[in-house]
Amino acid sequence: MLPNLKEAQKRTKNKVKIITDAYKVPEYLKKIGEGKTYHVKTYGCQMNEHDSENIKAILEDMGYSYEEEIEKADLILLNTCAIRENAHNKVFGMIGRMKHLKEERPDIIVGICGCMAQEESVTLEIMKKHKHLDIVFGTHNIYALPFILENRIKSKQLQIEVESKEGDVIENIPVKRDSKYKAWINIMYGCDKFCTYCIVPYTRGKQRSRKMEYILEEVNDLIKKGYKEVTLLGQNVNAYGKDLEEDYGMSNLLEEVAKTGIERVRFVTSHPWDFTDEMIDVIAKYDNIMPYIHLPLQSGSNRILKLMGRRYTKEEYLTLYNKLKEKVKNCAITTDIIVGFPNETEEDFKETLDVVNKCKYDGAFTFIFSPRIGTPAARMEDLTKLEDKNNRLYELNELINKYSNKANQKYKDKVVKVLLENTSEKDENMLSGYTETMKLVNVKADKKYIGQIVDVKITDVKTWSMDGIMVEK
Ligand code: 5AD
Ligand code: SF4
Repeated sequence: MLPNLKEAQKRTKNKVKIITDAYKVPEYLKKIGEGKTYHVKTYGCQMNEHDSENIKAILEDMGYSYEEEIEKADLILLNTCAIRENAHNKVFGMIGRMKHLKEERPDIIVGICGCMAQEESVTLEIMKKHKHLDIVFGTHNIYALPFILENRIKSKQLQIEVESKEGDVIENIPVKRDSKYKAWINIMYGCDKFCTYCIVPYTRGKQRSRKMEYILEEVNDLIKKGYKEVTLLGQNVNAYGKDLEEDYGMSNLLEEVAKTGIERVRFVTSHPWDFTDEMIDVIAKYDNIMPYIHLPLQSGSNRILKLMGRRYTKEEYLTLYNKLKEKVKNCAITTDIIVGFPNETEEDFKETLDVVNKCKYDGAFTFIFSPRIGTPAARMEDLTKLEDKNNRLYELNELINKYSNKANQKYKDKVVKVLLENTSEKDENMLSGYTETMKLVNVKADKKYIGQIVDVKITDVKTWSMDGIMVEK
């Protein structure tokens, strides 16, 4: 089944189906991967990271075992991201590398999944120019992976299983989590905001919230397994529940998750439009809801915000921002900003800088607008020069880094709580983890503390991370 852009753009009032038995591996498929290895390479957002955790569990159900080095694996899956052109180009680069690998080892299986697979233009290009690939499957077809693989092995032909539907909620896909201490939990899938630059509503389908009972069951199960932190995931988590018949929303879900007693609750991503006062009150009330909010701004210009279809003004954003800072003690706030949206002027850009100067963010992800096929913004005529866009990005990053460094400086000599996750990438003798406010800290501490939340005195502050020493209680 091939992806279809027109279908992906559609939204109906059809009820979302909750399916609890879609995923199955018949006995005869459980041995298909015995003695063989797999590698899943993930691009893009946390949603994709979590999908890869599902894919890994499915492959292990089929007998495959994990191989760290991509080139050595018998089955290689690229879980792709379509958000900007550079993500897209990276994947096509990798597809080229895979061609050489397949020439050396023709028996390996190479597949593409994730958001790029959902794009009609990408799949057509693969069919035309990259026939060395073996499977292509979409974000709605993960549960069917065992049968897609079976078909590929039997037919020896490229299998494409990409449905461009609004989507269901599938509740029984297994998961092999990357961490023993912190876990991603999907609370909703898809997005109905249709910001004019964004491809996600087409690659991930319509907004579908999971029922609260399934989410709480997952949290309670994680607590039993010793997990310390959960991150509630969705493209726009603040709209959680709006599509359900039940009368509950994100503030209720957050409160119920906090009440389970799990030590840390996080959530991403918040759209300013759906951020309610009830949500802010719940975040402020519970100590185990982390004082860290990612609040994408995208632009500070009301003219551009309107063209982006963001549904808020600069002033409304600032009001929300100030409310959060006022009510949630020591709250860290980060953001996403796009520069060079079609016909963004210097004045528009100055408005963005003005918001950054007012908000003094803890950090930000900044991007140059990238036209995505099928989105309204990609059809807008754009006279802004690339050189101007590059200059704006540079200027914006300088400002963002200045504030992020300033925000971090406040931590110097303070004692903060850090969940120690593993040995530091930079120094084998150090451990690393995150503060409640999501700052990365390299900590001098004994390895036996990995998996625990400990007190750390910050000794040195840099732009991207901090160093500290564990303080024994
Ligand atoms: N071009 C540039 N940046 C984009 N983003 C989403 N779509 C695009 C695009 N077409 C950015 C937004 C979003 C983040 C995940 O990626 O800032 O918040
Ligand atoms: Fe994309 Fe906007 Fe939905 Fe975020 S809220 S996923 S930017 S359409």
